[in-house]
Amino acid sequence: MVYLLSLLALGMAPLLATAQLSGSVGPTTPYATKANHKTCNVLKYGAVADKKSDVGPAILSAWNDCKSGGVVYIPAGDYALGSWVTLNGGKSTAIRMDGTVYRAGTSGGNMIFVEHTDDFEMFSATSKGAVQGSGYEFHKKGSLSGPRILRMFKVTNFSVHDLALVDSPSFHFSMDTCENGEVYNMAIRGGNSGGLDGIDVWSNNIWVHDVEVTNKDECVTVKSPAKNILVENIYCNWSGGCAMGSLGADTAISDVHYRNVYTWASNQMYMIKSNGGSGTVSNVFLENFIGHGNAYSLDIDQQWSSMHTIAGNGVQLDNITVKNWKGTESNGAQRGPIKVNCAAGAPCTDVTLMDFAMWTETGSYQKEICNNAYGSGGCLKPGTGGSYSTTVTVKTAPTGYSAPTMAADLKAAFGTDSPIPIPTIPTSFYPGQTPIKELAAKATTC
Ligand SMILES: *[C@@H]1O[C@H](CO)[C@@H](O)[C@H](O)[C@H]1NC(C)=O
Ligand SMILES: *[C@@H]1O[C@H](CO)[C@@H](O)[C@H](O)[C@H]1NC(C)=O
Ligand SMILES: *[C@@H]1O[C@H](CO)[C@@H](O)[C@H](O)[C@H]1NC(C)=O
Repeated sequence: MVYLLSLLALGMAPLLATAQLSGSVGPTTPYATKANHKTCNVLKYGAVADKKSDVGPAILSAWNDCKSGGVVYIPAGDYALGSWVTLNGGKSTAIRMDGTVYRAGTSGGNMIFVEHTDDFEMFSATSKGAVQGSGYEFHKKGSLSGPRILRMFKVTNFSVHDLALVDSPSFHFSMDTCENGEVYNMAIRGGNSGGLDGIDVWSNNIWVHDVEVTNKDECVTVKSPAKNILVENIYCNWSGGCAMGSLGADTAISDVHYRNVYTWASNQMYMIKSNGGSGTVSNVFLENFIGHGNAYSLDIDQQWSSMHTIAGNGVQLDNITVKNWKGTESNGAQRGPIKVNCAAGAPCTDVTLMDFAMWTETGSYQKEICNNAYGSGGCLKPGTGGSYSTTVTVKTAPTGYSAPTMAADLKAAFGTDSPIPIPTIPTSFYPGQTPIKELAAKATTC
C-alpha cells in the first residue's frame, strides 16, 4: 500500500493500467502451449514464398488443421494473397505471421477476417510481419472500394500485436462485437485520404496501446456500442486523429479512457461526432494529450455538418473529462483548441476541462466555442440545462502550453498514388514513454 501510494505521489500509476477495463484481456492459453500442441506451417499446406502463388488456400487449410488448438505459422518470406480468408470457429489458436503478405486480389470485403473465435493471438514473433495492401493501386484511380485488411467479429480473449498493416485499400483494422482483447505494438500506415481508417473498435473490454497510425482518417476510434475501452500510448503521426463516432441512433458507449495520445498534423486531437441521433455516451476520460500542427484539437461536435442529420434530439454526452492537454494548434483563430458544440436537444452535462493549455501556431489569438455544454473549464457554463452559445477570444498564451515533439514526425504525407513502404514498429509512441510490453522481437532474443 505504501509502495502504491508513493508511486501515485510520483505521478506514476503503471499498476493501475487497467483502470477502464472490466477484467483481463488477451489469450487465455500461452503461445508456447499452443505451439507445443501443434504447429501448422503454411509451407506444408502448399504455400510458396514467391510473392506470386496465392497463399490464401494454404492459410485456410492450416487454419482448419490448427484452429482447435495450435499455431498457424507463416514463416518469414514474401507471400501473395489473391483470395481472401475467412477464419471461423477457432479455439485456443494463434497465427504467427513473420512473413509479409502482399495483396494480390482485387475483390472488396476483408483480406483477413477472423470470426467466432476464442483464445486467439495474431502476431509476429520477429515484429516484422506485415500486410501490404498496396491500396494506392485503387486510390490513384479515385476508388475506395478495395478490401479492408483485417476485421474481427465476435472474437474473445485475444491479442493482435507486433504487426504492420500498410496501405489498406479501405479500413485497416476493425473490431466488431469482440470482447477481452489487447492490441499493441502495431504500426498502421495508410494513404493520405479519408476512408482509410486505422483502428475502429466497437466491442467490450478492449485495451489498445502502443500503436502508430498514419493516414487521413480515424487513428484509433471508438464506435457504438462499446464499453470498457482503454486506449493509451498512441502516436497519430499524420492522421485524421482519434475520435468517437460517427454516432447515430441508440448510441451506447460508456467507460472509455484515452491517455498519452500524441497527435501530429491531423484533423483533430479528439473528436466526438454526431448530428442528431439518440442514446448516450458517458464516463469518458481524455487524459495526457499532446498536439502539434493539427486543425482541431478538442472537437466535440454534435451538429457536425459533414454528416447527414439522423432522427432524434441528439446523443446525450455525460461525464466527459478532458485533462492535461498541451501543445499547439495550427490556427486558433480559424479552429480554436476548444470546441464543445453540443446538441440543443441534448445538452452535454458534467463536462470538465482541466489543466488544458494550448496555443496557436499562427496569429495572436485563438477562439473557444461552447454551445449547449455544461460543466467547468474553458468556455463551459455551470449548470445542467437549456441552450446557449458562446465564443470566447483568448489573446494571451496560457502558461505551460509548450510540449515536446516526437523526433520522427512525418514531414510530408504519403499521398495516394504511389507505393507506401512498410515501416518498422516504433520503439516509442508518446514522448518519454516506451511501449508497455516489449516488442516481441526483443522479448524473443533475450
Ligand atoms: C474468455 O476468458 C474468460 C476467462 O478465462 C472465460 O471466463 C470466458 O468464458 C472466455 N470467453 C469465451 C467466449 O469463451
Ligand atoms: C465519471 O467518469 C469517470 C471516468 O472518467 C468515472 O471514474 C466516474 O466514476 C464517473 N462518474 C460517475 C458519477 O459516474
Ligand atoms: C512517422 O512517420 C514517418 C514517415 O513514415 C516516419 O519516418 C517516422 O518514423 C514515423 N514515426 C515513428 C515514431 O514511427
